[in-house]
Amino acid sequence: MTAPGFTVSAFILLLHVSFVANYPSGKVTKSCGGMIPEHGHTPQSHPAHNISVSQKTFRPGDQIKVTLSGPPFKGFLLEARDAENLSGPPVGSFTLIDSHVSQLLTCEDVQGSAVSHRSPSKKTEIKVFWDAPSGAPNHITFLATVVEKYKIYWVKIPGPVISQPNVPPFTTPEATIAPMPTVPSVSHLTRSFNASDCGNKKFCIRSPLNCDPEKERACVLLSFTRDDQSVMVEMSGPSKGYLSVAFSHDRWMGDDDAYVCILEDQIVHIQPSHLTGRSHPIMDFGDPLEDMAWRLVDGVMQCSFRRNITLPGVKNRFDLNASYYIFVADGAAVDGRI
Ligand SMILES: *[C@@H]1O[C@H](CO)[C@@H](O)[C@H](O)[C@H]1NC(C)=O
Ligand SMILES: *[C@@H]1O[C@H](CO)[C@@H](O)[C@H](O)[C@H]1NC(C)=O
Ligand SMILES: *[C@@H]1O[C@H](CO)[C@@H](O)[C@H](O)[C@H]1NC(C)=O
Repeated sequence: MTAPGFTVSAFILLLHVSFVANYPSGKVTKSCGGMIPEHGHTPQSHPAHNISVSQKTFRPGDQIKVTLSGPPFKGFLLEARDAENLSGPPVGSFTLIDSHVSQLLTCEDVQGSAVSHRSPSKKTEIKVFWDAPSGAPNHITFLATVVEKYKIYWVKIPGPVISQPNVPPFTTPEATIAPMPTVPSVSHLTRSFNASDCGNKKFCIRSPLNCDPEKERACVLLSFTRDDQSVMVEMSGPSKGYLSVAFSHDRWMGDDDAYVCILEDQIVHIQPSHLTGRSHPIMDFGDPLEDMAWRLVDGVMQCSFRRNITLPGVKNRFDLNASYYIFVADGAAVDGRI
């Protein structure tokens, strides 16, 4: 089956599956450098969370206990940095104390150089050991990004400074103008999607067959509109919590390029992800989706986004010039989890 210039295999499976919780999975290595969750919202300014350390001086080889605590939070990212150059790479590595709530990440090719959450369960305290490396800078500080919920988060909360013995005293680095984090803009759709261009300008997958989302609340629509460089994707359906589409090389889910529109607190988030099996969509961060928009009216959730047909070098995103099986799924989301 082809729409103008856009080939897709017509093995379309409408699934009503409930994915097991794996969102957010905490595998946020794309956020290592800027420590920005890329959730599409502006970070909070006054930190509510605290980082404390078990000792104020360290020698290479020391293990220092670092505690991040505060009001209940779902996600976090913790790194050690050169206190005199906060934009430098993470320093040293961590050892977990509780691997149920935290996991090690590999940032800048150093295994364990950052720690993040394992699941979005609420926590009020995280404890880890920081292992001081040889050749560490004189002064180290800890930075934490804390996500209370999807749209409420703090970036690079500074912790205490710890120092090696007998080094020149710590001097505050020259204030650098922090670049505003680039948050993708997401807008509101002012009107419903409709089916009038289906089979004409856009390639549509609909259930029930030939339904129109503008007229029928129960209509599940997935549409693709292609131009030279990009594809515009629309998804619409009764709001159960999330809608997703996956491109697959085969008729089984797994190793797929997927996009999820997920409802949290009456806000729809549009998130590229990938599937490693039937039960684990893993959210990807910082991928280049454009023109994201959504709408939630009368229990109908709609979202749209544009993506380039080819995204060379971007992990987990397929080249849409080929043929794929397409999976459409919807289901329930609990507090932003699917
Ligand atoms: C951080 O911890 C210190 C000392 O334990 C405490 O005095 C302070 O109120 C805490 N700050 C926040 C924001 O929780
Ligand atoms: C801080 O670290 C960055 C990244 O490694 C480096 O480019 C920059 O020159 C460093 N700045 C200073 C003042 O050392
Ligand atoms: C259907 O949607 C398109 C795109 O938003 C719009 O241009 C068109 O006017 C709509 N058609 C009808 C019949 O509402």
